[in-house]
Amino acid sequence: MKRVITYGTFDLIHYGHINLLRRARALGDYLIVGLSTDEFNRDMKNKQCYFSYETRKELLEAIRYVDLVIPEENWEQKRSDALLYRVDVFVMGDDWRGKFDFLEQQGVEVVYLPRTPEISSTRIKEELKTIRREQS
Ligand code: CTP
Repeated sequence: MKRVITYGTFDLIHYGHINLLRRARALGDYLIVGLSTDEFNRDMKNKQCYFSYETRKELLEAIRYVDLVIPEENWEQKRSDALLYRVDVFVMGDDWRGKFDFLEQQGVEVVYLPRTPEISSTRIKEELKTIRREQS
């Protein structure tokens, strides 16, 4: 069984996320998602999530391409996760291109998939803010 892993915040799940998860799952037979915890988002990624970790996890678990959701709590765990979960393929969107090539040293295939254009959680939040401003 070919095991694939990817990481991210996945707040306000949108079609860019679904595209990424579908293509990631198609690279193997089992997809693990390392989901950034609220603390990791706040302290290390400078991101404020709309949905809590528990809610984001439930949403991801409801997606047919996702087999397992684990917490992402720091930048360093990727090496140990790869061993623990016997990962064959590591996948990220190409906004992260080159950043995780070091995993190849431990026999993991590293793949960067093209991002879906013109959609992001940040963009949704910004556009909702604009709509609210226009309505008030
Ligand atoms: N992703 C993608 N296409 C998009 C948005 C995200 O392929 N349009 C991918 C990212 O490259 C990453 C994964 O989805 O591999 C999770 O990304 P995340 O950072 O949670 O999503 P964003 O919408 O980019 O969130 P933010 O705006 O908060 O950075």
